Amino acid sequence: MFLKDFRNIQELDLAFHPHVNILYGQNAQGKTNLLEAVYFCSTGRSHRTSFDKECIRYDQPEAFIKLLYTRRKQDTIELHLRRNGRKGAAYNKAPVKKIEDLFGCLSVIMFSPEDLALIKNGPAQRRRFMDLEICQTDPVYLHTLKEYHRILKQRSQVLKHLDAYQFSYEESLLPWDQQLAEKGIKLILMRDKFIEKLSDRTVRIHEKISHGTEHLDLKYEKNMEADVDMFLDRLKNTVQRDIILGSTHTGPHRDDIAMMINGQDVRSFGSQGQQRTTALSMKLAEMELMEEEIGTPPILLLDDVMSELDQDRQTHMIQYIERCQTLITCTGVEDSIRKLPIGARYFVENGTITEQ
Ligand SMILES: Nc1ncnc2c1ncn2[C@@H]1O[C@H](COP(=O)(O)OP(=O)(O)O)[C@@H](O)[C@H]1O
Ligand SMILES: [Mg+2]
Repeated sequence: MFLKDFRNIQELDLAFHPHVNILYGQNAQGKTNLLEAVYFCSTGRSHRTSFDKECIRYDQPEAFIKLLYTRRKQDTIELHLRRNGRKGAAYNKAPVKKIEDLFGCLSVIMFSPEDLALIKNGPAQRRRFMDLEICQTDPVYLHTLKEYHRILKQRSQVLKHLDAYQFSYEESLLPWDQQLAEKGIKLILMRDKFIEKLSDRTVRIHEKISHGTEHLDLKYEKNMEADVDMFLDRLKNTVQRDIILGSTHTGPHRDDIAMMINGQDVRSFGSQGQQRTTALSMKLAEMELMEEEIGTPPILLLDDVMSELDQDRQTHMIQYIERCQTLITCTGVEDSIRKLPIGARYFVENGTITEQ
């Protein structure tokens, strides 16, 4: 990997070990920044900010990331983040027109303490998880999702200009609703399929981690079935409310993932431990799924998570780490790290990385 002016890393040229890489150092030295740069190549964006400019080193006009990796063959991803201008990307030297076209070129899974937000935060977080995952393996999904949101936005515009008591539904909204239902159903079907696959794996992993004492249930919580007539009927029947509130209340942009442990909702009633185990099981399941769909294991990025896991969960994690190229950050080489088959160890200080 080659970096220039990315966060506090002025320049870096580093070949990671094909197995376990440990990055250690004090807080605020640049460990997460390094993982962020790798994540960037996979999704075209940061995992922790939606403002690309934050990733450019202070007072510099642009940041550059270049990642060489081997999947079936040797591939290269290059990214330019510019303070005054659009970001640019290239895959194997060929410029990438839309940043989303990077999806699927490199698979990466990041584990971080913020994963808990997947369980604890609102439904938007869980939809984002679904969407990002499906996008990585299915380009059609991303296209449909963008279309759906475009239509949704246009429908909102129409809603805002309608008089709730005097309008012709057929003339003003029906054309939008037909398109919305068509795209919406495609999304629902693809998410259904994804959650079904994810759920099988998550449940199995969760059962192992909890030694069979707890049963987790994962379900796609949708507010609408994948049925055109039903979808259209609902849009029409609830139009008054949509006009008053100025937005659309039916469709997959309002969906969620339901998680139950032994019949109780983990999102609101789960203990911290149950929420953690659920998040971990989901991410490990995501990893298995990605490996199956793509045929090679993803790169694992573990940001300060090892020391937070208890013995059992650590042992579990290690099984996965052993199969993948992994980058692990920690503040010291503690016991949880010492147990690992370490390939290379790096000391991170003030944006410089030295192999030990
Ligand atoms: N755009 C930037 N330019 C220069 N330094 C930055 C930038 N963004 C963050 N930093 C610095 O990076 C450091 C945080 O790095 P990070 O990788 O999150 O630390 P850690 O090693 O704890 O994971 C902080 O010192 C912060 O000031
Ligand atoms: Mg960090």
